[in-house]
Amino acid sequence: MKVVIHEIAFGGKGVGRLEDGRVVFVPFVAVGEAVEIEVIRERRSYVEARAVSIENASPERVEPRCPYFGRCGGCSYQHLSAAEQGRLKRQQVEGVLRRIGRLGDVPVRETVPSPRDYAYRNRITVHLDEGAIGFFGQETGRGRPLIDVANCPISEPAVNALLARFRARPWRREGHCTLRADPAHAGGFLQTNDGAAEKLLALVAGLLPPPGSGTGATHLVDAYCGAGFFARHLRDRFEQTVGIEWDRRAVEQAQRDAAPHERYLCGDVAAALPDVLAVAPKGQTLLLLDPPSEGTTAEVRRAIVSAPPAEIIYVSCNPATLARDLASLGSDYEILSVTPLDMFPQTAEIEAIAHLRFKQA
Ligand SMILES: C[S@@+](CC[C@H](N)C(=O)[O-])C[C@H]1O[C@@H](n2cnc3c(N)ncnc32)[C@H](O)[C@@H]1O
Repeated sequence: MKVVIHEIAFGGKGVGRLEDGRVVFVPFVAVGEAVEIEVIRERRSYVEARAVSIENASPERVEPRCPYFGRCGGCSYQHLSAAEQGRLKRQQVEGVLRRIGRLGDVPVRETVPSPRDYAYRNRITVHLDEGAIGFFGQETGRGRPLIDVANCPISEPAVNALLARFRARPWRREGHCTLRADPAHAGGFLQTNDGAAEKLLALVAGLLPPPGSGTGATHLVDAYCGAGFFARHLRDRFEQTVGIEWDRRAVEQAQRDAAPHERYLCGDVAAALPDVLAVAPKGQTLLLLDPPSEGTTAEVRRAIVSAPPAEIIYVSCNPATLARDLASLGSDYEILSVTPLDMFPQTAEIEAIAHLRFKQA
């Protein structure tokens, strides 16, 4: 059976259509390719398949650098150029905003690339089971096999050196273990790709008015702040900054480096945000949201619209929950831009940064 791939869906699979009208999902293919497929799983409305052969290889194809690519569950796009990955990720963000958020007219900018396509991860979590040390395979669900991995080309050389040492003398027989390039890390969330994290900071700073212009917000609320990654770097642009985070160790670390006009609260954003926004000057407050992949809760969104800050910058690691949250804030806020950032090249993950302005501000 042959299908033509017309799109790569968010998650990394190519999309084609069978003669009977059902959609077919095929991994490790490219847009425009005519693919001979073998059906793996059939459902009423869609089919999962694998590519057996490709008639017309896409010009965007490149040689994958990892011997485990195709089996390891970590990467989806090593067979595609970095430029094509960026193009796909932008298209996927647009598609998800349209389908989930009904946000068809949001300006989605070009994807900001990572400075490195490979050797960028500063940490990995490897799993151990029955002598294998590595990552879970492509299959989903319970019982998926563990792929024994000796080297991970998307990770920094320092991380691969730790992996080699760990494999020589594993200090566990089963479970999992996180290997970090920075041995001094005290715990809590830390950005995984240092070069792309710099770009993320520059992108967020670039959404603010120029320093010294006398325009823009005077107060920053950094919700889901971790150890203060954004607040610390942006504090000179504000008269007051407040960070909210429930991981105590991260908050203690943020407090250690804090300037006098910079405060950190340890607690649930849903519980702390109403009080923080109630005393912040509405027309002068920027709310930065950087939640985990589940996005914000309805409680958090209610707190925002009850005491609406002038601007919101929403840093998301999941376009689907971003779309839901933007749709819910959409009657009060104008969505000025959404910018995808390729924090995790070769993988299907997408970071996206949305900039919102209160409609009556
Ligand atoms: C994606 S990380 C971002 C951290 C930080 N902005 C950074 O860039 O390093 C999300 C953070 O939110 C925290 N978090 C998750 N849910 C939370 C909640 N309901 N209340 C407070 N913090 C929460 C996590 O502990 C984590 O540090």
